Amino acid sequence: MSTESFQLAAVTAFGLEAVVARELKQLGYENTTVEDGRVWFKADELAICRTNINLRSAERVSVVPARFEAVDFGILFDSVRAIAWEDWLPKDAKFPVAGRSVRSQLHSTPDIQRLVKKAIVERLKAAYGLTWCDETGPEYAIEVSLVDDLVTLSIDTSGDGLHKRGYRVKSGAAPLRETLAAGMLQLSYWRHGRPFLDPFCGSGTIAIEAALLGRKMAPGYRRHFAAEHWYRVPQLLWDEAREEARAAVVPSDGKLLAGDLDAGAISLAGRNAISAGVGSDIDFVVRNVTEWKDLPSYGCLVSNPPYGERLGTIDEAEETYYRLGDLCQSLDTWSFYLLTAHPEFEAIFGWSADRRRKLYNAKLACTLFQYFGPKPPRIEE
Ligand SMILES: C[S@@+](CC[C@H](N)C(=O)[O-])C[C@H]1O[C@@H](n2cnc3c(N)ncnc32)[C@H](O)[C@@H]1O
Repeated sequence: MSTESFQLAAVTAFGLEAVVARELKQLGYENTTVEDGRVWFKADELAICRTNINLRSAERVSVVPARFEAVDFGILFDSVRAIAWEDWLPKDAKFPVAGRSVRSQLHSTPDIQRLVKKAIVERLKAAYGLTWCDETGPEYAIEVSLVDDLVTLSIDTSGDGLHKRGYRVKSGAAPLRETLAAGMLQLSYWRHGRPFLDPFCGSGTIAIEAALLGRKMAPGYRRHFAAEHWYRVPQLLWDEAREEARAAVVPSDGKLLAGDLDAGAISLAGRNAISAGVGSDIDFVVRNVTEWKDLPSYGCLVSNPPYGERLGTIDEAEETYYRLGDLCQSLDTWSFYLLTAHPEFEAIFGWSADRRRKLYNAKLACTLFQYFGPKPPRIEE
């Protein structure tokens, strides 16, 4: 096994690149380059295990064997065939190729995919002395992306997207992506030990991600990844990364609070939390947003209230923002982080945000409205 470093990319939703770059630094990968939807870094095979297991806000992690310009199919074919694919793909590798092309002279995605596939087949046949590739082995999903004639070839190490933590018993009506929930929390001043409330918790995603973050529990600890079947990333590296993750966990420091009007959602949230290993870290209650009282000081309210797009009507959503405004008015030492796609949110809620960030819940463009309260007296931020 080589210990040389190679090019990797953490793929992110737009708006979360800096959060993922910070996460990579915390994992020890300091030299990152941030681009729209990608954070580039160089590392070794162990990094594939560490990043897949630990990254909270990235969508996936890819190995990037090459980037080059191509304005015709001849250059594309020759450049792809010149890559040492055999460094990663064994002779029985299964390698589906998916493509996309944006503002590039080569724009037919089916033709690009076919050509890249053919070039890799040619390379592997020559490297392994084969007459054909039977593709009966582990999967190496390849993406060819052209943007402004720049070709990026990547091999997906994650398999299922990293938002699939493996703790959902079943999806709620409009669950937030786990990676986005973790991003909202990492963009907030919430810290382990500080009071937390999500009064619209639905299936519990934000509270569960907060509990995992607070206790330093790796979100991918319990699931599996495509690269677990790769000969180049042996099981002992996965074992090492899982052992590091297990050793990093800290004990609980107070209960997180989460509520929802819908009893079915609360029951599901409780089951999801147990399945995530944080069942005793969160108090889930069936409660209207209007009914929260006697909350401790200096907390953080992190939530995605109803949008009126995917659940309920716009009128109902607006009434809810109004009620949420009343609750927040009464919490004068708290900070609020509210994600919604409603364009008039601030006007209905009652006051202007200190900061707004454009984020995406899958394809739905949303804004995270951030309201910064006073710093708690004793917690370092
Ligand atoms: C957008 S969903 C939240 C989804 C959640 N973040 C998740 O990941 O599953 C909004 C939630 O607000 C709840 N809700 C609507 N009106 C409410 C109210 N007045 N008080 C409390 N919860 C309410 C709905 O039942 C729904 O579960």
